[in-house]
Amino acid sequence: MEDKERSSFSGSLGFVLAAAGSAVGLGNIWRFPYLAAKNDGGLFLAVYIILALTFGFALLMSEIAIGRMTKSSPLKAYGQLSSKFKWIGFFATLVPFMIFPYYCAIGGWVTKYSLAYLTGVGEGVAADGFFGGFITSTTEPIALMAVFLLISALAIVSGVNKGIERVSKILMPSLFFLIIAIAIFALNISHTENGVTRTGLDGLFVYMVPDLTNVTPSHFIGVLLDAMGQLFFSISVAMGIMVAYGSYFKDSGNISKSVIHIEFFDWLAAFLAGVMIILPLYVFMGREGMGVAGPSLVFITMPKIFTAMGSIGSFVGIAFFVLVFFAALTSNISIMEAIVSSLMEHFNISRKTATLAQTVIALIIGGIVCLGYNVFYFEVKLPTGATGQILDIMDFISNNLLMPIVAISTCILIGWFVGPEKIIAEVTKNGEKFYIPRLYSFLMKYGAPVVLTILLFKSIGLLS
Ligand code: ALA
Repeated sequence: MEDKERSSFSGSLGFVLAAAGSAVGLGNIWRFPYLAAKNDGGLFLAVYIILALTFGFALLMSEIAIGRMTKSSPLKAYGQLSSKFKWIGFFATLVPFMIFPYYCAIGGWVTKYSLAYLTGVGEGVAADGFFGGFITSTTEPIALMAVFLLISALAIVSGVNKGIERVSKILMPSLFFLIIAIAIFALNISHTENGVTRTGLDGLFVYMVPDLTNVTPSHFIGVLLDAMGQLFFSISVAMGIMVAYGSYFKDSGNISKSVIHIEFFDWLAAFLAGVMIILPLYVFMGREGMGVAGPSLVFITMPKIFTAMGSIGSFVGIAFFVLVFFAALTSNISIMEAIVSSLMEHFNISRKTATLAQTVIALIIGGIVCLGYNVFYFEVKLPTGATGQILDIMDFISNNLLMPIVAISTCILIGWFVGPEKIIAEVTKNGEKFYIPRLYSFLMKYGAPVVLTILLFKSIGLLS
């Protein structure tokens, strides 16, 4: 069985590509561009970078170091550091367990659109009402969710080295090639409507240059909290993943540099996703078109823009949906690995058995998520003010409630019980440099718990 001799990534490159594969996902593509557009573009981009280099750096570093120190799955790792904090492991495993089925359901939607563009029927998916009709149908979304889930399971069952690392080494460079190509294309488009011509460069200006005229302290706090919530989901912290991946990181690997590289790739993908999405949105739909978020952005608005682009649009559509598919798949694999590694360790079962068990469970829950738009349809008002279905409820509980709890308790565990110096010692054990150790200790003890508690209260509607 694998755990007798724990598998590992072949080296820092394999680790960074797998972790960046986890980080760069749907969050980068459909949430970052929307939040950037909503929060004055340039201001959001700057705040996000600062938070990534401070809070993001501290949490990512801690989780990877916890994984490598304990060589355990997320379920067990926290308890090994302090028996009083064993329960964090339960929550850190529950988060990916809740995210996985709905990530697979969305992966099924992405599969549908990728296949449509690849087989030349992209215009059909751009038709009015198509997306609504598709997700409310009974069998197709479930079948495609199952396909996406089985592809992920195949990578997981092949192991850390031959599955996760190999897939990431192929998909991540391809993803960056596609995203750079579409971003360059987006910079060069223009469209004239009612005598007004808008160009990609105008869009870049709208995307990047902050309009600081409306910035008040409360507006700025809103930007800060949006950026913080986005950052944690995007770099895959507080969901067990980085602990699991850290446990496969070789003792000779350089954690500090890897963290910087992962954050750089994550930020670059998010920034370029903004260029790739916001610029065409602005060019073809003007400022009004920029308020669209979430699924409707990717599955309704973007296909309409590809149709408006004329014959080249079908090629851009292929590149776009293949890229979204790669991003979703590598993240989905990491979410599944966090669960499978915990199942293997807890029940002392093989990777094959754990993968099979998780596949069956996720097929059932994912099926229910898909039917949430059909036979199980109902609407609830979430504490955020938005209305939603089963998928949105699971997303709310995992992202808005459980993830902040895992992040806050991890900071308290490291800051006050284990001691930041233990993490610093793990990171520097090969003579590596630990960037900003004092700031790290401050953030783990005070900064992150306070800011994250505010974020938690705000995201569950206790603070306006
Ligand atoms: N970090 C992954 C994403 O952004 C989960 O989608």
